[in-house]
Amino acid sequence: MANEIRHFVLNTGAKIPSVGLGTWQSDPGVVGNAVAAAIKAGYRHIDCAQIYGNEKEIGLVLKKFFEDGVVKREDLWITSKLWNAYHEPEDVPEALDRTLRDLQIDYLDLYLMHWPVKMKKGSVGFKPENLDKPDIPSTWKAMEALYDSGKARAIGVSNFSTKKLGDLLEVARVPPAVNQVECHPSWQQQKLREFCKSKGVHLSGYSPLGSPGTTWIKSDVLKHPVVNMVAEKLGKTPAQVCLRWGLQMGNSLLPKSTNEVRIKENLDVFDWSIPEDLLAKFSGIEQASSCDIITMTLLARLLRGTSFVHETYGVFRTLEDLWDGEI
Ligand code: A2P
Repeated sequence: MANEIRHFVLNTGAKIPSVGLGTWQSDPGVVGNAVAAAIKAGYRHIDCAQIYGNEKEIGLVLKKFFEDGVVKREDLWITSKLWNAYHEPEDVPEALDRTLRDLQIDYLDLYLMHWPVKMKKGSVGFKPENLDKPDIPSTWKAMEALYDSGKARAIGVSNFSTKKLGDLLEVARVPPAVNQVECHPSWQQQKLREFCKSKGVHLSGYSPLGSPGTTWIKSDVLKHPVVNMVAEKLGKTPAQVCLRWGLQMGNSLLPKSTNEVRIKENLDVFDWSIPEDLLAKFSGIEQASSCDIITMTLLARLLRGTSFVHETYGVFRTLEDLWDGEI
């Protein structure tokens, strides 16, 4: 089928598989089985991060699968992310080496700066006193050196607003290949997507189902009437409709699941598409469709980085500052 959308081409020329397994909130003890089930189901893209605390278990599965010939390293796309407490340029190569050691591989397909946020060197946890002043250009320079070394075959960012991405593009020798951000039918990122497209930066969407399992959010994305109407018309599930919408917007997507049935369901998005008339219905649905159950605030952006904002300690004093108004 012509419009299967199995991959996207990055500004490095590499092809990123369009659906990857998300591993945030996949606990040690279950993440290994999830990665194994995903690879067996046909996933060729695993999205990791040091801060998720589960890279060692993922590494054990990768090692076994490579040894048993289930999949070859060169046929997998593996992404990981530089944590905020490793932004000092001298800490960046060490952070990548630790991730490579944990994952038991010798290069990443993509290494992302996880947030435009710095936390004090070596600090652990999300206490406001750990916040520090980021120097994105100098951290990026250290990321560029990893790209030059071949240990990271592409480099990019995550959680960057349009402005922060634009500022980085002004100074980058190696432009970021990807900006990985929250993206789903209730938080569509139209402005950022258009900017990314104009600059050749690929937008990868995390929480493409609206993160229904995140305990501090009551998310209704999968229950949205438009999503359900389209699902019913096409004989697909609401999750599949959210994913197919993202693919047709040009985003790669990272649905998280630790359930084998849902892992398979989330990859079954290639031999059908949402017709234009139904796709048009999504343009009107971006609105608050979830609620922060702690503050009872209505949300469109679900994952707002509240821990990285602080009136006294924070370089970003408000969410408006962190996201440059895109909130
Ligand atoms: P589980 O791991 O039990 O499958 P997101 O990727 O937007 O952050 O969403 C992840 C959440 O959505 C997890 O709680 C996951 O639970 C759940 N999930 C994953 N796939 C599906 C699906 N196909 N239908 C419904 N819920 C899903």
